[in-house]
Parts: sequence; C-alpha cells; structure tokens
Amino acid sequence: MRAVALHKYLPVDNPEALIDVELPTPEPGPGELRVRVHAISVNPVDVKVRAPKSQVETTPRVLGWDAAGVVDAVGPGVKLFRPGDEVYYAGSIARPGTNAEFHVVDERIVGRKPRSLSFAQAAALPLTSITAWELLFERLEIPQGNAPSQDVLLVVGGAGGVGSMALQLARKLAGVTVVATASRPESTEWCEAQGAHHVINHRQSLVPQLQKRAPQGVRYIASLTATDTHFPELVEVATPFGRLGLIDDPTKPLDISAMKRKSLSLHWEFMFTRPLYEAADPLAQHRILNRVADLVDAGTLRTTMTQDFGPITAANLRRAHAAIESGRTVGKIVLSGFPS
Ligand SMILES: NC(=O)c1ccc[n+]([C@@H]2O[C@H](COP(=O)([O-])OP(=O)(O)OC[C@H]3O[C@@H](n4cnc5c(N)ncnc54)[C@H](OP(=O)(O)O)[C@@H]3O)[C@@H](O)[C@H]2O)c1
Repeated sequence: MRAVALHKYLPVDNPEALIDVELPTPEPGPGELRVRVHAISVNPVDVKVRAPKSQVETTPRVLGWDAAGVVDAVGPGVKLFRPGDEVYYAGSIARPGTNAEFHVVDERIVGRKPRSLSFAQAAALPLTSITAWELLFERLEIPQGNAPSQDVLLVVGGAGGVGSMALQLARKLAGVTVVATASRPESTEWCEAQGAHHVINHRQSLVPQLQKRAPQGVRYIASLTATDTHFPELVEVATPFGRLGLIDDPTKPLDISAMKRKSLSLHWEFMFTRPLYEAADPLAQHRILNRVADLVDAGTLRTTMTQDFGPITAANLRRAHAAIESGRTVGKIVLSGFPS
C-alpha cells in the first residue's frame, strides 16, 4: 500500500522530512478494523511528533491522527462495524498513523461518518471534536441543555482546529456566553461564524477586553494555545471557583499557587488518554463521534474543513505541516485520496 512516512526527524523544508513509501498492507487483529483511508486531516500533534531530533527510524514511521474512510476488513470479535461501513476516527498516538491507504484501528474509538459530509469534510472532525467535547463537557463540566446561564466560557485560540469545534459545541449544546480569542480579521470572522458571542484579541491584554464583554468574570476557560503566555491573565479574569482547562504543552512552568485565592481548579485534557488507558471507558470516543455525526447530519454542527491540500502525498503533507507550523491556520487542513 502507499503511505507517507519518515525515517529522520527533519525541518519541514527538507524533502526527506516526509517521504512517499510502499508498505505491506496491515492485517486487523481481534477487535480491530482495517479501513481504506479516503481522507485525512493534519493536526499540531503531527508537527510535534515530526519535530527535528537526532533519532532515526529503522522502519518507516507513518504519522497522522485523523481519518475518514470505509471499513475494508474486520478482525475476530468485531461487533460495532462491518465491511463497507463509512467511518471516521482519530486513532491512537501509540500506533502507526492514518497517512496510508489502509489503516488498522481499534473499533471502540471509531464512529460512523456523518452521512451528510464528504470524506474530506468528515476527516476534519474527529481529533478536534473529541478533544473539544471531552474538555468542555467532561473536564470543565459545562452543563449541556438550553437553559440560559449567567456563566461565561472563554476559548483562547478560537479559530484553530479545537477552538472551532469548542465554539460550535458550546454555542449549540450549552447555555453559556461564549467569548473567543483571535488576532486577525479572518480568524475573528471565523470565530463569529462558529458561534462566538464576542471575540477579543489575544495579541492584546485580555483583562480590559474581558472587563467590557464579561464584567462578571469567566467561569470556564478553555486554554487551547499559548497557555503559558496567557496564564496570569486567565487567573485574573476567572471567577471564584472557576475552572481552567488546557490542552497544549506549556514550555515554562505554570504558577498554580496563583489559583489558590479564588479556589480555581486546573484540568488537563489529552484526547489520547482513552486509547492509551483502556480503563478510562474505552467506548466513550465511539459514542462521542456518533453523537457528533448525528449533530452534523441534523444541521446543528458543521465541518471545520477550510482547505483541501489535494491528494495524500509527501509533498502535500509537507505543505500542510508548514502551514500548521505557522500557528496561523483557521479551521482544518484536509488531504484526500491517493494519486492515481
Ligand atoms: N491535549 C489534546 O488532546 C490536544 C488535542 C488537540 C490539540 N492539542 C494541542 O492544542 C493546541 C491547539 O491545537 P489546534 O489544533 O486548535 O491548533 P491550531 O489549529 O494550529 O491553532 C491555530 C490557531 O492558534 C491561534 N493562536 C496563535 N497564536 C496564539 C496565541 N499566542 N494565543 C492564542 N491563540 C493563538 C491562531 O489564531 P490567530 O491566527 O487569530 O492568531 C490560530 O487560529 C496545539 O498545541 C495542539 O498540539 C492538544
């Protein structure tokens, strides 16, 4: 099968950073599906795993943690899917990725693809939808339902992949006031289109902007990007007993003692925790993806795909990695199909 892989961890402008390879087609084991991949999307995790270092892989390493495709074969004991089913999923960080014609995945973390979306539009969604759902509704415990609420949710980095889904989920499924951050006209417009009631600029001080839009303070904070930069201001704008959730990788330590005076709580969300530790409700991501598919097909949620970079090739993936490295993407970049 065709795949895109790496042997060496190189800067993205090096043509060897990602290469086109031929690999044996994998066989599904017990409880696993083999999926013919039609489309994939690219996430910052791909870029972080590919980051330059001296390590060299003796066998090609395939990246990619988002796919939409068709079940091609099933392993023993599979209960949830059959060959021919259209599916979408993010997979596991502990296993080979989805940038390949065929991919093997545990059926328990796979969902049915939204029927109303193309494969490309569907591939934009799994990793970021799972992250946003788990962060808002499980870690921050924002109540779902239409009951109006006085509470405010702040989404820092609202136009990114995770932010786009967090804005849609919060606006459509919860009663909170949703404030997003964005720094450019196109990312600001995108946040508004995803459902933000207000958009403030993360290149300026957040406190005075929030004092205008949310004078009562912020009960829920989804800190998606540059948490270490924004942390002191996030503590300042939080209400007493507020909840701060983060998903990124702070490069300097956070001074959590600053959270004591207001009894704030800190919540990590890592969407690969469930695939890594089966004890953590192994079917939960199957249910989340099916629920998201239902909401998409009902017209409640929309795809966050903004750019299709063309067929799944090393050259196109290197372009996509470079775009993610810029830190300025809006929504999601997708690649679909293999060259004929
Ligand atoms: N823990 C998990 O399970 C998990 C899951 C997914 C992602 N992540 C991590 O979470 C982070 C965000 O992921 P993503 O996919 O949403 O990223 P993304 O799509 O690459 O985010 C791009 C957005 O970041 C915004 N941004 C850039 N600089 C910023 C700053 N200083 N402050 C606030 N926002 C800024 C940009 O907005 P402007 O252009 O308007 O500046 C841009 O729209 C990444 O570090 C990723 O690795 C973790």
